[in-house]
Amino acid sequence: MPGANEAGPGGLASVLRDKGALTSAWMPAYRAVPRDAFVPDRLWPGTAGGNRQGEVIDRNTDPARWWERVYSDVPLTTQWDDGAHPGTDKGRSPTSSNSMPKMVFSMLDALGVERGHRVLEVGTGTGWNAALLAYRLGPENVVTVEVDPAVAEEARRRLAAAGLNPLTVVGDGAQGCPDGAPYDRVIATCGISTVPYAWVEQAAEGAVIVAPWGPPYGGQAVARLRVGEDGVAMGPFVMSSAFMRLRDQRDTFPPTDAFPGVANRPSPASRRTTALSPDDMGDWHHMFTLGVQVPDLFCRVERCEKGAYRLWLLDTGRTSWARADYVPARTEFEVAEYGPRRLWSEAEAVMSWWREKGEPRFERYGLTVTPRGQHVWLDSPDNPVPVRVP
Ligand SMILES: C[S@@+](CC[C@H](N)C(=O)[O-])C[C@H]1O[C@@H](n2cnc3c(N)ncnc32)[C@H](O)[C@@H]1O
Repeated sequence: MPGANEAGPGGLASVLRDKGALTSAWMPAYRAVPRDAFVPDRLWPGTAGGNRQGEVIDRNTDPARWWERVYSDVPLTTQWDDGAHPGTDKGRSPTSSNSMPKMVFSMLDALGVERGHRVLEVGTGTGWNAALLAYRLGPENVVTVEVDPAVAEEARRRLAAAGLNPLTVVGDGAQGCPDGAPYDRVIATCGISTVPYAWVEQAAEGAVIVAPWGPPYGGQAVARLRVGEDGVAMGPFVMSSAFMRLRDQRDTFPPTDAFPGVANRPSPASRRTTALSPDDMGDWHHMFTLGVQVPDLFCRVERCEKGAYRLWLLDTGRTSWARADYVPARTEFEVAEYGPRRLWSEAEAVMSWWREKGEPRFERYGLTVTPRGQHVWLDSPDNPVPVRVP
């Protein structure tokens, strides 16, 4: 057992309390449901703010480091490439994890559960979040859905070993789980770009939906929606996030070379300079804004020498592209644009809008979901953020 000052449940609890994530209401569940009981022997810990994965740590060969990472405030990747990439090296994409504890408890806090509430969780993963909910509300009040049968089976085993057996369903969480409805709370622990309307339909009037939402371009934040009697769910974004996507809402962007004109020499693109620094485009809140306003946009970065890089903007319809070359200490940047749309000009227009509005962060945005669609708003639901329809 680790000593008082070493990594362990107590140390992580203080970290989470200091960050304002772990409240006294969730403390008994945190104590009763130890994270280590839900983490497999082999994990890849988050680094650099949690967005990248470090090298594998195996409990059997390095138990001290395994324990130290489990009781650190980092996400732990537990599966790559939907299980198609076994072994110890990293695969292409992380596809299942035990989430960052700060996010787990901040989202549980935002969920605002009360005794007797029925909860639907989408994205069982390791089962830790489901276990925390089951401890607090009773396993009979928790339904958790996982798309990956092997991941769900492992979670079921760990939940049973902890004496907690919420209904663990293998299926597409975008469909919810009608058998357990109506739910007082719905929580997604995978990211979405569209709120599946099934979640609203299966929610009781007044229910709360907490889900990480973000456009394909980038930027993601947790939406906290309240379901009204009219079948409309509405509410603010409450914190930034970086969750892996719901399987069916993953983005698969075409390669840059598949775009017309990219490979042609000499380049047919029109050229100019811009005062909009590609560096300013990387702010997470601005990325969110650009992605909301230009929903068919995605980007790629090509690193060059000495801190220089090329930022590509491309449309998912494969018609147009723009690239801007960032060079440190410059105030003017070379831009090339090609296709029927001028994507850098669209990005400049969105940046001007964002600056005029005072560079809003997530907290000023909100989301409304109706049976007909969804839209993001700024400051108030009657102030929709403009969407540039191509
Ligand atoms: C970040 S992990 C969830 C962490 C988990 N709540 C925990 O406590 O360990 C995201 C999970 O969502 C699952 N997932 C992705 N798409 C899904 C879908 N359509 N329906 C249900 N689960 C899905 C992934 O397989 C993955 O296990």
